Amino acid sequence: MKKILIVGCGGIGKRHIDGFLRTGKCRVSVCDIDNEKLQQLENKYPLDSLFTDFFSVDISKFDAVLIATPANQHIKMAKRCCQMQVPFLLEKPLAVTLEGVDELIDMSKKSNIVCAVGYTRRSIPSFKKFKQLADSGMAGEIKMANFYCGQDYRKYRPDYSNIYFSRRSTGGGVLRDFVTHFIDLAQWILGKPKRGFALTANLVFGNAVETDDSAIVIGEFAGKLANFYCNGFQKPNELVIDLAGTKGNLKYTLATRFLSKILFSNDDSGNWQEIVCFHDEIFDYYLYQAQEFLKMLDGEICELTTLEEAAENLKFIIDVIERSKD
Ligand SMILES: NC(=O)c1ccc[n+]([C@@H]2O[C@H](COP(=O)([O-])OP(=O)(O)OC[C@H]3O[C@@H](n4cnc5c(N)ncnc54)[C@H](O)[C@@H]3O)[C@@H](O)[C@H]2O)c1
Repeated sequence: MKKILIVGCGGIGKRHIDGFLRTGKCRVSVCDIDNEKLQQLENKYPLDSLFTDFFSVDISKFDAVLIATPANQHIKMAKRCCQMQVPFLLEKPLAVTLEGVDELIDMSKKSNIVCAVGYTRRSIPSFKKFKQLADSGMAGEIKMANFYCGQDYRKYRPDYSNIYFSRRSTGGGVLRDFVTHFIDLAQWILGKPKRGFALTANLVFGNAVETDDSAIVIGEFAGKLANFYCNGFQKPNELVIDLAGTKGNLKYTLATRFLSKILFSNDDSGNWQEIVCFHDEIFDYYLYQAQEFLKMLDGEICELTTLEEAAENLKFIIDVIERSKD
């Protein structure tokens, strides 16, 4: 059994506890500054140990650390893992600013430990299949991509105005948070992000947050062009990704939260061939990611986002924010 320490047990930390326990291969300990949260977790899950101060935990006793605190705390926690030679999986985004990012990458290379950033979709079968089909050449060379994504974030996180999402300094807002998931997918499928522009606005959330709730981003990825339309207020929960290739288009649709389809068309008949569909993946997102990370710990090559890729993603977003100022 692998011993995993999960740091930050809020909305996502809890899902990681569940995911690692469900692998059947891990014993889980937790760390959160909120003692009340820890007590609730102890009543719900079979946990090994509970801690309140990450920096005083002897993490060398663990096989890996999962960091799920707000993004402004990621770098210092990840650096401690490097110093103590403990593998880690870091929640996205890598950070909020570039401070300490290059140093962390240097430290991770020198310590040579297993580490990755948890852009969840890279571990999910339907997205892996989509990437595999894009790479297969069936659509020719992919030249353009369109990412359309919206959901009512307030429904899924009723506490949205009190958590990291509500503040820029903790990595909140649609541009700094949601959009980075799709930048990661574009980077995975198309290549390295080069430059971009954005329009962002707080269209609906008002004073409940100091961040934006909507963003439109255009970007260049390894010479290909991509567009990202993303908001956190719309009622239907939708994701559609269109890849335009020289021989046809591949389309990923999340028709409901419980059904994903991959479609293909290579003519103008209006007919799309359904290549494959996936049901109910939503319930296992964090199980899949935990399994992928465990494979990495066992020495297998995985496609989880590297620190370098997550740094490119962050640099792209910071650059987009700078370029897009009035
Ligand atoms: N992969 C995804 O799809 C996904 C979705 C949502 C959030 N996230 C990311 O996960 C991270 C956390 O998001 P969340 O929604 O769980 O936020 P949250 O506010 O619900 O939880 C954060 C938790 O961290 C704890 N914490 C804060 N500082 C701490 C410290 N120094 N030591 C220990 N615990 C500390 C808080 O008490 C809280 O319980 C963010 O980086 C966010 O971007 C990822």
